[in-house]
Amino acid sequence: MEKREQLYEGKAKKVFLTDDPELLIVSYKDDATAFNGLKKGTITGKGVINNKMSNLLMQKLDKEAGVPTHFVEELSDRDTVVKKVSIVPLEVIIRNIAAGSFSKNYGVEEGVVFDQPTIEFSYKNDDLGDPLINDYHALALKLATPEEIETIKKYAFAVNDYLKAYWKARGVILVDFKLEFGRLSDGTIVLADEISPDTCRFWDAETKEKLDKDRFRRDLGGVEDAYAEIMGRLS
Ligand code: TMP
Ligand code: ASP
Repeated sequence: MEKREQLYEGKAKKVFLTDDPELLIVSYKDDATAFNGLKKGTITGKGVINNKMSNLLMQKLDKEAGVPTHFVEELSDRDTVVKKVSIVPLEVIIRNIAAGSFSKNYGVEEGVVFDQPTIEFSYKNDDLGDPLINDYHALALKLATPEEIETIKKYAFAVNDYLKAYWKARGVILVDFKLEFGRLSDGTIVLADEISPDTCRFWDAETKEKLDKDRFRRDLGGVEDAYAEIMGRLS
């Protein structure tokens, strides 16, 4: 499988056409942005880590948690073949512990553990700054059908159940994460985009040290080391 013309360049990945109309190749970059692209930088080696972590976790989710994904085949350190989807323009965020925008918006100290996970949707629209919306807004905006929203919620909680236990066994607390879903040409909903330290908050279970992109967002230093550390816990 070879790259044909570039279809799209995002903040962290490039997407290429292939000679199969149902398949694309994504190529992970070391570029990092935060705050809707206001902050820019490079995290050396990030592309390789995000590619490999996302592929490994998606294969496990498909086989062991019953969540279908876009993953097809890892081609190289940075390049992966995925099924072509039309992205549902929702950022689906699950939280187990208060952090980030939840702490800021609702005045809750970071680290407060919830009795049960929360789910929230943002309308994926850079011009609008990805505003928080509810299910009814998503329907009014025709971003997804009621059935698709139910499927997306079911899969998102299944991802949380699986990944929370997976990371716990490796000494890592899964604080929160963001998922994106897509539709295959026949309408099937599958997990798309990536699952990586860019899109999840990971805390060391012992020290509570941050092992994710918050080190970049908040200028905490040790960004590359944190990505290497969390990658080292994968198996
Ligand atoms: P938040 O607390 O800033 O809303 O972030 C919640 C989770 O979503 C966190 O794990 C980081 C992830 N995230 C993304 O993947 N992309 C984004 O653009 C943002 C804002 C958050
Ligand atoms: N990737 C996002 C951006 O640049 C934000 C983030 O992950 O914090 O807007």
